[in-house]
Amino acid sequence: MVSAIYSIFLLITCSILISSTNGVILPGNYTLPKFSPNLCFAARFDLVINIEYLKIDGKTNISRIPLNNQTFQYYDGDCLSSNRHRLTIGMLDNLTTITFQFKLNEKNQTSLTEVFGAITIKNTDYFPNCSDNIKGLHAFMGNESLFLTDRNNSYRCNTKTKIDNLKIMNNNITIKSIDLENLRIQPFINDKIIWNDYATEKVCTMDIFKSSTWIPIVVGICLAVLVIVILVVYLVRRRRYRNGYQSV
Ligand SMILES: *[C@@H]1O[C@H](CO)[C@@H](O)[C@H](O)[C@H]1NC(C)=O
Ligand SMILES: *[C@@H]1O[C@H](CO)[C@@H](O)[C@H](O)[C@H]1NC(C)=O
Ligand SMILES: *[C@@H]1O[C@H](CO)[C@@H](O)[C@H](O)[C@H]1NC(C)=O
Ligand SMILES: *[C@@H]1O[C@H](CO)[C@@H](O)[C@H](O)[C@H]1NC(C)=O
Ligand SMILES: *[C@@H]1O[C@H](CO)[C@@H](O)[C@H](O)[C@H]1NC(C)=O
Ligand SMILES: *[C@@H]1O[C@H](CO)[C@@H](O)[C@H](O)[C@H]1NC(C)=O
Ligand SMILES: *[C@@H]1O[C@H](CO)[C@@H](O)[C@H](O)[C@H]1NC(C)=O
Ligand SMILES: *[C@@H]1O[C@H](CO)[C@@H](O)[C@H](O)[C@H]1NC(C)=O
Ligand SMILES: *[C@@H]1O[C@H](CO)[C@@H](O)[C@H](O)[C@H]1NC(C)=O
Repeated sequence: MVSAIYSIFLLITCSILISSTNGVILPGNYTLPKFSPNLCFAARFDLVINIEYLKIDGKTNISRIPLNNQTFQYYDGDCLSSNRHRLTIGMLDNLTTITFQFKLNEKNQTSLTEVFGAITIKNTDYFPNCSDNIKGLHAFMGNESLFLTDRNNSYRCNTKTKIDNLKIMNNNITIKSIDLENLRIQPFINDKIIWNDYATEKVCTMDIFKSSTWIPIVVGICLAVLVIVILVVYLVRRRRYRNGYQSV
């Protein structure tokens, strides 16, 4: 009896240990400073990196690497500068990182201005049969101008945003894109007050366009136009018919 309980306990401990070696649970929100009630930065999004790389057979493959519980390692960042806040996400191994740099402009608007980091390529499940001359650490960077909004607002975009202008030094590797989806960010929060929730959201154009409230409006307008056209055609025909009848 005791040995049964003991072995169940051992089994549970082992499975927890095994699952914890493979990535860390993804945080719901990337908040800074970590473990503080007074936040200066908050964000959440789904992320996928699409990388084209050279294989040993001379062909290329596109690897699609999502940020999930398997690939996530850690996040960090700082609000050390009053007009520049940074979020860094570590994934795959601790050598692969992506940093998002947000800036506050003179009009009190915030935006994502730079994305940079490093990718470590090795012959793993993520880069199977990769060529020897691309193995190792590669830095990448890109200047952006995305998610512009007032500092006192948050920004929401559920539609996929493709960051596809990232430069990497090795021409046998191409970062096709870093895709951000289901995004909500507030990069410059007033940290004098305890954070409760994201501020009023500015919604990106694609979300407004996609939002279902547009569909009935568009359908309604189309129907109205159709009814008017049919009515006009009918009236014109009837008049012609009458005129024709009278002239006979
Ligand atoms: C992220 O933050 C929002 C706003 O405070 C909250 O509603 C949500 O539950 C958080 N997500 C997780 C997984 O903690
Ligand atoms: C391309 O890379 C993915 C990993 O993202 C892998 O699953 C797939 O098998 C690879 N395809 C080829 C042809 O190497
Ligand atoms: C990560 O794991 C947690 C806890 O098991 C789960 O709630 C969450 O949905 C998972 N996230 C992803 C992206 O798989
Ligand atoms: C990765 O780095 C973070 C922060 O630097 C650290 O907390 C974590 O233990 C590291 N993980 C591994 C697997 O090295
Ligand atoms: C920007 O916002 C801060 C804090 O909300 C305020 O003190 C400052 O006057 C604003 N500056 C401008 C140019 O609107
Ligand atoms: C890697 O190459 C080996 C030998 O050429 C092949 O058998 C295997 O299917 C390849 N793996 C992938 C994922 O392409
Ligand atoms: C980003 O902008 C800086 C300064 O304007 C410039 O030096 C740098 O080359 C740019 N980087 C890329 C990848 O375009
Ligand atoms: C945010 O600030 C702008 C001016 O900088 C103002 O017009 C707007 O009403 C403010 N929004 C909120 C939610 O306070
Ligand atoms: C890219 O691959 C080709 C063919 O394997 C090789 O000759 C070339 O040196 C590689 N370029 C770099 C920058 O590694």
